[in-house]
Amino acid sequence: FDPSIIEYKGFRFLNFKYNEKYIDSLETFETRESDVFVVTYPKSGTVWTQQIVSLICPDEDRTGEELLPNNLRFPWIEFFNEEIDHSSRPSPRFFSSHLPYNLVPNELRKGKGKVIYVSRNPKDVMVSYFHFTYFFKPMGKAKDFSEFMDNFLNGNVPLGSWFDHLRGWYDHRDEFNILFISYEEMIKDLRSVVIKICKFLGKKIENVDIDKIAEEGTFNKMKKNPKANYEWIPADHANKENGSFLRKGTIGDWKNVMTVAQNEKFDQVFQEKMKDLPLKFIWD
Ligand code: PPS
Repeated sequence: FDPSIIEYKGFRFLNFKYNEKYIDSLETFETRESDVFVVTYPKSGTVWTQQIVSLICPDEDRTGEELLPNNLRFPWIEFFNEEIDHSSRPSPRFFSSHLPYNLVPNELRKGKGKVIYVSRNPKDVMVSYFHFTYFFKPMGKAKDFSEFMDNFLNGNVPLGSWFDHLRGWYDHRDEFNILFISYEEMIKDLRSVVIKICKFLGKKIENVDIDKIAEEGTFNKMKKNPKANYEWIPADHANKENGSFLRKGTIGDWKNVMTVAQNEKFDQVFQEKMKDLPLKFIWD
């Protein structure tokens, strides 16, 4: 029994700002055509994509939200928060979500509202998540990497199986108005991803502004930006001496953590579960 997990509707919710009635209400949550949902399995580039979308859709377009840091501009839809009344937020509303495809609002699933799904190679996701358990207090701290890896492969971690999450969203992509991007593409060529997102959101942006956004979205810039770096997390949620939200920001950190045997085991499970999935991953 892991107290950080609540099982409901076949999904392993994180026991954080969780409210069952609220989760039920999401089914009929009214979306808007202009809504933008950044959907991810944890540790795949959520906060990064929040920042890029915020820069693409700048303050001039908005009323009242311009001074907010990203967590308030991009509230997680699954977290119950009485202080936020989504229905009175100005358009375009931004949301983040780690929900599986079948638990998001029905209207979103019928194409009303846009989804940007960000994926990351699952070895780096797993390693980032492992470190996150020591930083973010609502997560149960991992005993050691070996046990965490077993739990990750079995989907026995908060927010469930990486494999199911990705496959669910990918297999049901035709039901959504959705753009798939990857963390690794962002690392390798952020500018192209910015252009892709602009096209998807129907935003026409000057070349110089695209350059600026790609510059502001780098790890080092974001780490110093108090509206983007998540350093505001209260001490009762985070062990700040044990890390930060923007930890390392690289591809291939799994090589510093996984043994050869663990890597082989991972590859075997990955092959079994994902062999027929056309999506390709960049591992280093
Ligand atoms: S969460 O908790 O699910 O919202 O986390 P998420 O934001 O999805 O993922 C956190 C990882 O993304 C890295 N990150 C970045 N990498 C490169 N460039 C930029 N600008 C950037 N911003 C966030 C962050 O460092 C986490 O990865 P790791 O590997 O732990 O460093």
